[in-house]
Amino acid sequence: TKNYDYLIVGAGPFGMIFAHEAAKRGKRSLVVEKRPYIGGNTHTHTEHGITVHDFGAHIFHTDNKEVWDYIRKFAEFNGYQNQVVANYKGTLYNLPFNMNTFYQMWGTKTPDEAHAKIEEQKQIALKDLGDRQPRNLEEQAISLIGTDIYNKLIKGYTEKQWGRKATELPAFIIKRLPVRFIYDNNYFNHRYQGIPVGGYTQIFENMVAESNGLVDVLTDTDFFDYKETLLSEFPRVLYTGMIDQFFDYKFGELEYRSLRFEHEVIDSNNYQGNAVINYTDSETPYTRVMEWKHLDGLADEGKTIITKEYPQEWDRSKEAYYPVNNDKNTQIYKAYATEARKSHPEIIFGGRLGKYRYFDMDQVFNDAFNTVRQEFGIDQEFNFAHD
Ligand code: FDA
Repeated sequence: TKNYDYLIVGAGPFGMIFAHEAAKRGKRSLVVEKRPYIGGNTHTHTEHGITVHDFGAHIFHTDNKEVWDYIRKFAEFNGYQNQVVANYKGTLYNLPFNMNTFYQMWGTKTPDEAHAKIEEQKQIALKDLGDRQPRNLEEQAISLIGTDIYNKLIKGYTEKQWGRKATELPAFIIKRLPVRFIYDNNYFNHRYQGIPVGGYTQIFENMVAESNGLVDVLTDTDFFDYKETLLSEFPRVLYTGMIDQFFDYKFGELEYRSLRFEHEVIDSNNYQGNAVINYTDSETPYTRVMEWKHLDGLADEGKTIITKEYPQEWDRSKEAYYPVNNDKNTQIYKAYATEARKSHPEIIFGGRLGKYRYFDMDQVFNDAFNTVRQEFGIDQEFNFAHD
């Protein structure tokens, strides 16, 4: 019965930032969220004093200072830097590919030695290819980095991720393979990086708390149970669910890859000595094991919590995680986006499911700012962090 200005479908980062910023401009929103909690895929909970990420490890990293200053208004960040270790059949390598990896792989000690080794491996691959372009992911990866790194650190992991042989995967999945000729295991090449102390969910709870009572959230509420009523009652809608589902899949179903997470509480102070270990062979059924306490630098006696991440085929009964951006899906998405503009100009389709794109969190924040700018006629120069 309240006079809402907006219906927002989905309480993930995109929806919550929009609701918070709309409230600052005096607009009232109702957020409907089908899960029992807010935060979308960034949702975290605390167990045995350890912050667990429910939908895979979320490390905040960005070069965007506005986004970095903005998010830190809602939580304090630690100085965590992601450093991933790869386990290939019991041998450990540092990631991303850098001088440490090359030393572990070949014993090379200087950048020149490492360069020469990679060049030598690439030349063999390029000779095999002759004049033709790489026809699949395997050929593409070998032509970029050679066989040793491909076989030990890329092949098994990628095949598990996509559920298909590397020779059956398209070459475009790997465009570049960044290599660093310095001893530097920092996974991300971004200026700002960290984990919110106490987890991500508080960020979105604080956004609601700091909205002058203008944001109401209904959890455990699926938009599709009330679609027609809601659409008829709300003048303006922000929809962050799946765009194909909104149109009842009339142009076909967009494909995703899914994941299954297995959490374990273990009676150990320190199980694996690192937050993320990737298993890069093809036999181990999971791709990575996270040990959450290391994201917070916790060394408490007693318990630790680990999560194994298993890639799996997606169907409508599972969570959709990674869009499969091939030609077929791109065409289908375009048909929905065109239909959305034509038949529902009053609805903004946003976020990773509404736009069928993989977004990192900082990109979602930035995209939400731009949507707010557009919706409220705000200048490009306006800085949300200083508002
Ligand atoms: P998000 O999916 O978070 O929220 C959408 C919300 O809408 C969900 O809560 C959903 O339940 C709800 N919803 C959908 N349909 C609905 C309906 N019909 N009715 C009601 N509610 C509905 N990023 C990064 O920067 N660093 C990282 O380390 C990682 N790591 C990472 C790991 C894994 C495994 C994945 C899959 C993703 C990441 N990300 C990441 C990306 C990050 O998860 C992503 O950027 C944000 O969650 C996107 O926020 P959105 O609001 O767009 O969607």
